[in-house]
Order: sequence, then C-alpha cells, then structure tokens
Amino acid sequence: MGLAPVHRYVLLVCAAAAASVLIVPWQDLAGLSLSDIIGLALLMAFTLLAERLAVGMSVVSRGSTQTLTFIPILTCVLLFGPAAPVLLMVITGSLAEFYIRRKETLKAVFNVAQYVLSTSLAGWTFALSGGVPVLHADTFPLQLGPFLLFLLVAMGINQGTVFIAITLSQAARVTEVWTKFVGPAGTNALYDLLISPIAIIVTFVYWQASWPSLILSLLPLLFIRRAYLNAYRLEHANRDLLKALVKAIETRDPYTSGHSQRVAGLASRIAQQLGLSRQNVEWIETAALLHDVGKIDARYTDILRKPDSLSPEERAKMQSHVTKGVELLRSLSSVPEEVILSVLHHHERVDGRGYPARLSGDQISIGGKIIMVCDSVDAMLSDRPYRQALSIEQVREQLREHAERQFDSRVVHAVLESRVLEEHVETVRASVTGKDESRPQRPSAPPEHTRQQRRLAALSF
Ligand SMILES: [Fe+2]
Repeated sequence: MGLAPVHRYVLLVCAAAAASVLIVPWQDLAGLSLSDIIGLALLMAFTLLAERLAVGMSVVSRGSTQTLTFIPILTCVLLFGPAAPVLLMVITGSLAEFYIRRKETLKAVFNVAQYVLSTSLAGWTFALSGGVPVLHADTFPLQLGPFLLFLLVAMGINQGTVFIAITLSQAARVTEVWTKFVGPAGTNALYDLLISPIAIIVTFVYWQASWPSLILSLLPLLFIRRAYLNAYRLEHANRDLLKALVKAIETRDPYTSGHSQRVAGLASRIAQQLGLSRQNVEWIETAALLHDVGKIDARYTDILRKPDSLSPEERAKMQSHVTKGVELLRSLSSVPEEVILSVLHHHERVDGRGYPARLSGDQISIGGKIIMVCDSVDAMLSDRPYRQALSIEQVREQLREHAERQFDSRVVHAVLESRVLEEHVETVRASVTGKDESRPQRPSAPPEHTRQQRRLAALSF
C-alpha cells in the first residue's frame, strides 16, 4: 500500500482504539440510576461548553490547548467507573473535533481515536489497581491510588500518541520535534495535574447532593475559564498590535524589511541556547521585536531613507531612537519593565563605549546584550545598498574580533557554538525574495513569526 507513514499511524491508532473498547466494562453503565445519567449528561454538556467557549474566543487555534476536559473525565471515572469517561470522550470528542473545532477529517479521527484509547487503557488500569466508583466505595482514600494511576496513564498515552503524530506529519528530526514538544506538553501535564484535585472536590459534592451539585460546582469554573481566556486573548491582541506597529515602522526603512522579526527569532533561539527561563526568553523575544520602535517618530524618516552614510549630527539624532522607544513603551501599561530594560540597553557595548548611558559589563541586561549581537548579526548577513551581505565565516570572524568589546563573550560563544547563523541565513533569504536590484528594495512581507508554529499542540493533534 502506498499510504504515507502518518496515515498508517492514524489507522494503527484507530485499530488500537477499537480494540481497547473491548476491555471497557460497558455493563457498569447499565447500573446507573436516572440521577447518575443526568449527572453524566451534565458533565458532557460542561465539556462541550468549555470547548465552545475556547473556540468562540478564537484561542484554540493559537496554541492554547489547555482545556478543562480533564475535570469531567476524572470526575466521571471517580463517580461512575471506567466506562463513563470513554463514553464521554466518544460523544464530546467527536462533537468537539468535527463541529466545534472543525478540524480536518484525518486529525479529527485521530484525536477521537487517541481520546478513546487513552481513556480506555487508563480506565483499565484504574479497575486493575482496585478502583471502583466512589458511589459504591467503602472508603474514599482507597480510590486515590487508582485515580492517580488513571490520570498518569491517560496523560501519558494522550501526549505520547500526539507526539508520534506530530513527528510523522512533519519532515523534522525526532529530537527537533521533541525540543518543541516537551515545553508545551510539560506545561499541559503540570496543568492537568494541578487541576485534578478539582475533580475530587466535584465528586465529593456530587456524593452529598447528586446532580444539581454539578451545576453549582462546574458553572463557576466556566466563568473563571472565560476570565482567563479574555486575559489570554488580550495579551495576544497586544502582541499583534505591536507587530503591526513594527511592520509599519519598517515600511519607512526600505533597507531593513523584516529585520525586527528576524532579530526577534534569533534572540529567542540564543536566549534558549543560554539556558534562560521561558519567561525570560519571551521577554527578550518581545524586546528584540520592539528594539527599534522609537524609529516610528517622524524625526527619523529622512535619516532612515538616506542611502549614504550619516553625518555626526544625524548619527547623534538617530541614537536618540533608543530613549524615544523606551518613552513610547513606558506609556503602554502592558509592556513589562524587563522588556523595556532590554530595549534601553540594545546599543550598549560591554566595553562601555555604547549609548545612551555608556554602561559596561554586568550593568547591561542580558536581553540588551543578546539583542546587540542579533541586531548586528542580522545586519551583517543582509545586503545593504553600499555592500553585499557578509559570509557566515566573515560574521564569525567579526563576532570573535569584537567579543568583550562590542559584544558579550558569553552571547558570542552561544552563537558560535550553535547552528543559529546557518539557520538565520535561510530566514534572511526567505524574507528578501523578489528583490528589485534597480532601486531600494520594497519591504516584503516578513516571514510569518514562528512563535505560534513552535508552540505545538499537546492534548490534540
Ligand atoms: Fe536600534
């Protein structure tokens, strides 16, 4: 058969899901009372509402895959035993994938299959380790071990199957996909673990007051979720606005089209290479995107368009773009101080001969040091009206030569030790295609920023 590996894999997962359904103790469902059936239906309704909420606020497609689905799944197994979560995932998973998220058929089928497989096998281990529905249990604490096992098995199979699907669907090395996958998957796993006690509380309340308690305990969660998604959406709207702002600035500077986007990508890679925390990497990436935001001021328009070298007066005027940018960013309440500090330091040199404050060594923030190197690297690897782009070897030479003077040697070391220069040349080439040699290049659309692409979805494919 000429099926692609990913198609064969989807078939395999579907077959495994179909087989796993055979070990589900479906007869347990026949013993449910009317109020339990209402309870199960309410848990399904809650799952669908939570999905609808996320999609309605257009955040699911942007990588926010952390949903509340784990709460009803966990509550189901505790209350009604191993068959209920499988039924919940067959119904809500299908409706969510096909009608709410509107995924393409292959992905939707795969996701439903992996939901069924993970809940079936997790339910099997729950029963095997002595787990019984809490409603029939003598003591609740005895159910906690099987409950934890259920959680870990469901999470493991879910993330493992999605990881293989992503590896097979992308022409990338396993290690490469793993590096991109492990962060979001780890965050999702931690999130699921942290919210799991909510399922225990919901189960307890149900034990006392049957299905009406579900409305009282789950409804507030939907409101909290809504508030969280609002904040998430606002954060991204701000980011989109800032990107649009940077793009607007670069249309006035025909020689540096896409520069800030490329510097942001490069700075993020180097910050990761240096082992900085995720939060720091994000701040530095944002600062790199905004490092020249001060150039939006009309006073720089003529200088930016000037093809010749600048006079000392013009150079001094141009240098004020740093303080102008900081002034602008300080007027925006959503920009963290860490970002502003990196922007303020992006022209400071470690030997104290930079500007605006002539800081040196450790007085300069790590973000400022990284952006200083990335800004220069991107400029050296790009064609300018007065010179051709430098070769990678020439850039390496420049970095070595200016380490401990213009550049921080730790940052230079990170660049020289990795393949970021080779990768960056490809990015520069991709963003300057269609160049007209006879006049300054018209700004081409910067490459789609890779942040969203890097944030691979866990929990679903
Ligand atoms: Fe600058």
